[in-house]
Amino acid sequence: MSPLDAEALPLRTVDTADAEAVAAWSRVPRVAFMEAEPLPGEAAARLRETVERVAGQRLSGVVDDGAWVATYRSFDTELTMPGTGPVSVNAVSSVTVLPTHRRRGLLRRMIGADLHRARERGHALAALIAAEAPIYGRFGFGTATRAVDLTVEARACRFRPDAPGADDDGRLELVEAQEAWPLLAAVHDASRRARPGGLAREERWWRERTRSGGHRAWGPRSRAVLHRDAAGAPDGYVAYEVVDRWEGRVSRCEARVLDLHAASPAVYRRLWEFVLSVDLVRTVRAGQRPVDELLPLLLEDPRAVQQGPLDDFLWVRPLDAAGALAARRYLGCGTVVLRVLDPGGPAGGTVRLHVDPQRCGEDGWTCAEVTGTDAEPDVVLGAAELGALLLGGTSAVALAAAGRVHGTAEAVHRLHALLGTPTAPWCPTWF
Ligand SMILES: CC(C)(COP(=O)(O)OP(=O)(O)OC[C@H]1O[C@@H](n2cnc3c(N)ncnc32)[C@H](O)[C@@H]1OP(=O)(O)O)[C@@H](O)C(=O)NCCC(=O)NCCS
Repeated sequence: MSPLDAEALPLRTVDTADAEAVAAWSRVPRVAFMEAEPLPGEAAARLRETVERVAGQRLSGVVDDGAWVATYRSFDTELTMPGTGPVSVNAVSSVTVLPTHRRRGLLRRMIGADLHRARERGHALAALIAAEAPIYGRFGFGTATRAVDLTVEARACRFRPDAPGADDDGRLELVEAQEAWPLLAAVHDASRRARPGGLAREERWWRERTRSGGHRAWGPRSRAVLHRDAAGAPDGYVAYEVVDRWEGRVSRCEARVLDLHAASPAVYRRLWEFVLSVDLVRTVRAGQRPVDELLPLLLEDPRAVQQGPLDDFLWVRPLDAAGALAARRYLGCGTVVLRVLDPGGPAGGTVRLHVDPQRCGEDGWTCAEVTGTDAEPDVVLGAAELGALLLGGTSAVALAAAGRVHGTAEAVHRLHALLGTPTAPWCPTWF
């Protein structure tokens, strides 16, 4: 295929109810993400899982000579914004191009078409998880949440006497996730609404994680422990698996936290205390945790928790600058005129962000008035930089120092003060 031919290749959509069509389409992501082809005995079950995962979503791609050579998937989901709770976003996934067809502009065509359609549907935001960090800035996406891996030396952990939860009167219960997942889902749902960056998890997400033998399941050694309050209501859980490892007769067993959510710091402490005290476990690892994880602050020896690597997780793109800024609330107050640059994209323009202290709610958060304006901007920034700032997880001051946000120091500080959030945004949900 010559570079010129790529423009002529047709963009097609897939009927997700047609399993054969989904099967043909899903070969491309397997090649591009370097996944093994399913063995003959596994193929039918794998296809059933894929069909369930993508049912009703928007599947598209590019066809060459009758065969898929590029894929793209998007669907509506909910993203929690600072101060307001969940808003509908266009989530993007399964972005793949065969190695035989790479760097001919196929991704550019697919993402351009999808983002414009999402804006037409009324979405103010799109979100994705980037396989590689250099890909999506050019398409207006910025790092909105980060996550950190933890390695905890279990035997070095003693909770401080003032750590909440010492007098917790709830109880812990080992549950079978395959049956009990609706209880975990309810806890997660409350948790993801309480912090910016949380994404909804549909029933199919839970079924895929908890199905026995499933390709994307938590695995045969995984365990789930539910916390119930004194009245018996579920208010926290930890899912973990133990890696059985010995040096001679000395245990080096490791617990890996797969998912942990709690309705309060007290319940959070109980769950961590539990997993750190499982007999034979010497090390606890937890991936993709919030960058402001509470655990070190609860311990006599915070260095028992080693943190890193710290990486980007959710990337967010404004599709409509005014809509995106109005989709959250603010703790600060003031006015900033922002010019958003988005060449070829849908989010360009100049908007006045005004947060009036008179409109502050009882919870301390204020709705902004966001309007288009002809005024000269205080701050000029790209769509990707606005995407990085919206959830409060990236510093406007740091982006300005990096030459990616432009304005006087005073204007940048004003913007920085408006956008701050009390908790770091966090997204623990792969999609
Ligand atoms: C990433 C991938 C989808 C890119 O598809 P593609 O059709 O080759 O991309 P395009 O030709 O449309 O490239 C558009 C631009 O992005 C750049 N780009 C694409 N992939 C890139 C990468 N991995 N790293 C850095 N830049 C990249 C191109 O150089 C081009 O730059 P330009 O704007 O300066 O011209 C494809 O290489 C792939 O499938 N990779 C493996 C799976 C993967 O990582 N998918 C992404 C999942 S989030």
